[in-house]
Amino acid sequence: MIRPIPILIEKKETNLRKDSSNPNSLEIEKAFNFYLKNLKPLVAKTGSQQKTGMHGLDTHTNAVVFRGIDYSLHMGYDPIPVIFACAFHDMARTEDEGDTDHGKRAVPMAIKIMKQFPYLLDPETRLSVLSAVLNHTNGRTAQDYISACLWDADRTRMAWYYGYDDKFFNTSRGKYVAQHWKKYIEFQRFCFPKLTWSKQY
Ligand SMILES: [Fe+2]
Ligand SMILES: [Fe+2]
Repeated sequence: MIRPIPILIEKKETNLRKDSSNPNSLEIEKAFNFYLKNLKPLVAKTGSQQKTGMHGLDTHTNAVVFRGIDYSLHMGYDPIPVIFACAFHDMARTEDEGDTDHGKRAVPMAIKIMKQFPYLLDPETRLSVLSAVLNHTNGRTAQDYISACLWDADRTRMAWYYGYDDKFFNTSRGKYVAQHWKKYIEFQRFCFPKLTWSKQY
């Protein structure tokens, strides 16, 4: 007897496909769910960053990880190392303003967390993640796509706030998003309606 093959309808996928403006929306959602489930709890436990506010984990870091995934997928690169770099970048902050050393202080925290994912990142990629985090406050020309995506994702809101300046951006997608905030916030809300998205973050 031939058994009929069940047809599975993925509700989530159907929902995501409603947004035709971003061909990567399904991949972005999958990658962002990895961050929410597997990485964010460790960052919250290890870091000193506050939860909300201009540099909060639930506000700014969520937005940076989301954009970082988008920028890397747009270039055809693996978003996983970018997720790590974006998740780590402000985890050592102790206050919202100033604190220019927070990239440096995040490095040992990042090393500790990456040890828990031995099969996801090879040693060379781990060094790239650390370098992206270490230099995110002052780097201009990125040495690889991991730094490029983190730095652009971190600076996108600056362009939304103070105006776009091409010299601060490394990726074509970052350049585009930095000039289209309204549409982008709508897209973030569409993908994850329960999270906090704003021009501020
Ligand atoms: Fe930072
Ligand atoms: Fe940041």
